[in-house]
Amino acid sequence: MSDHEQMAQETAVSDYERVGGGAAIRVVVDRFYDLVLGDERLASFFTGSDMPQLKRHQALLIAQVLGGPAAYDGRELQEAHSGLQIGRGDFALVVAYLAQALREAGVEEEIINRVGAVLASSEQDIVAVSGR
Ligand code: HEM
Repeated sequence: MSDHEQMAQETAVSDYERVGGGAAIRVVVDRFYDLVLGDERLASFFTGSDMPQLKRHQALLIAQVLGGPAAYDGRELQEAHSGLQIGRGDFALVVAYLAQALREAGVEEEIINRVGAVLASSEQDIVAVSGR
């Protein structure tokens, strides 16, 4: 490795660090679920859910997506969402609320776009109903 490459590697800051780490992500996740549960089109999906556990899993998953510690220990996304009959419109709303929560926390657009791309690639694991 050249000196230049080594320096680039040592100074490379992950998106996880850039947004402020685990504490900042927990703030985003709280705001995200306030937005989701405040939307009557989405709230009923979560009636039977253990919200503290869901928030914990969501925070770990987002941390991992941002290049932080790979500590997600929840179910596979397909398993967690199977049977919920989630439509494409529901999915788009949830993605938009996560982007809003990140934006409100001051996260850069470039990072929001990277998170959005990862979420978009998980759509087929989560959406069951194409018509809604
Ligand atoms: C945008 C992409 C999404 C991601 C990355 C995501 C991520 C997650 C994660 C990590 C969990 C926790 C799994 C576990 O605890 O084992 C979860 C659970 C859940 N998600 Fe999502 N989710 C997404 C979209 C959605 C959408 C669109 C809906 C409904 C409109 C939804 C509704 C739920 C519900 C109801 C649960 C809890 C299921 C239960 O309590 O058994 N999710 N999701």
